[in-house]
Amino acid sequence: MNPAAHELDVEGLELELLLEAMFRRYGADFRGYARSSLRRRIRNMVRDERLGSISALQEKILREPEAMVRLLDHLSVCVTSMFRDPSFFLAFRQKVVPHLFSAPFVRIWCAGAATGEEVYSLAILLSEEGLFERCRLYGTDINAHLIEKARRGVFDAALMGEYEANYRAAGGKGSLSDYFRVAYDGATPRHGLKRNILFAQHNLAIDGSFNEFNVILCRNVMIYFGAELQNRVHELFFQSLRRKGFLCLGRRESLPRALAKTRYETVDAEERIYRRRS
Ligand SMILES: C[S@@+](CC[C@H](N)C(=O)[O-])C[C@H]1O[C@@H](n2cnc3c(N)ncnc32)[C@H](O)[C@@H]1O
Repeated sequence: MNPAAHELDVEGLELELLLEAMFRRYGADFRGYARSSLRRRIRNMVRDERLGSISALQEKILREPEAMVRLLDHLSVCVTSMFRDPSFFLAFRQKVVPHLFSAPFVRIWCAGAATGEEVYSLAILLSEEGLFERCRLYGTDINAHLIEKARRGVFDAALMGEYEANYRAAGGKGSLSDYFRVAYDGATPRHGLKRNILFAQHNLAIDGSFNEFNVILCRNVMIYFGAELQNRVHELFFQSLRRKGFLCLGRRESLPRALAKTRYETVDAEERIYRRRS
C-alpha cells in the first residue's frame, strides 16, 4: 500500500472514532454529517490546538469539556445575514405570504437559524405584509451560543448598509433602519419585532418535532449533512408541516427526487420553495 494512502485511511478511522467519542461523551451527534467539510474543520482544530493528530484531539476532548466547546465552535458554520439571498425573500413575499392570510394563526419554524438574522428578516417582511400579529416565529439552532446571540439581537451596525440593500432587493417597503435602534456599534430590533419570536436550542440530528407549522425554513444547513441524515430530517419536516404547508431550502439544496414527486409540489424551483401536497 502506498504510505500516503495508508495515512489517509488512518485519519479517516480517527475521524470516525472522534465522532463516536463526541456522541458518547457529550451527546453531540455529528455522525451523519458530510465527511469532507467535517474533516477540513477538524484538521483546522488539530492545527490550532497544536496537536499531532485527530486521535490526540479525541483524547483532549474526552478529558477537557472546554476543548469540546472549542471543537463545537470549529464545526459550526454560522455565516448568515439579513435578507440573505434577497430573491428568496422576494419570492416568499409574492408566492408564500398570500396563502398565509387564510390561516387564523401562522407558525413558522426557522431551523438552523444561527444568530437570528433570517428570523428577524422574516419578522420584518411579515409585519410589512400585515401578517406579523398572527404569526409565531420559532428560531432554533444546535448551537446554544448562537441562540443566545439571536435572543439578544444585537447586530453589527457596520453591516446595516449591506442589509439595507438586501432588504430593498427583497421588496422591502420602507427603510430597514425603521426597524432598528442604533447605539454605539450595535443595531437592535425595535421592541415590537421581538414580540412574536421564540428562540430555542434544537438539534435536527436527534431532537423530534415540537409543533405543527405552516412554514418551515431550513436554509444552508442540510448542505453539511450526509444523505441518510438529510433523509431523516426531511421526514421530520414532513411530519412537522401542516397540509399545504411550505418548505423552504437554501440555494444549493434540493428535495430528494422521490419526495419532490410524491409529497410536495414545487412553488419556485430556483428559490427552493416547496408546498406539501396533503
Ligand atoms: C450556515 S448557517 C445558516 C443560517 C441561516 N439559516 C441562513 O441561511 O442564513 C448553518 C446553521 O446550521 C446550524 N446547524 C448545524 N447542524 C445543526 C443541527 N444538527 N441542528 C440544528 N442546527 C444545526 C449551525 O449551527 C449554523 O448556525
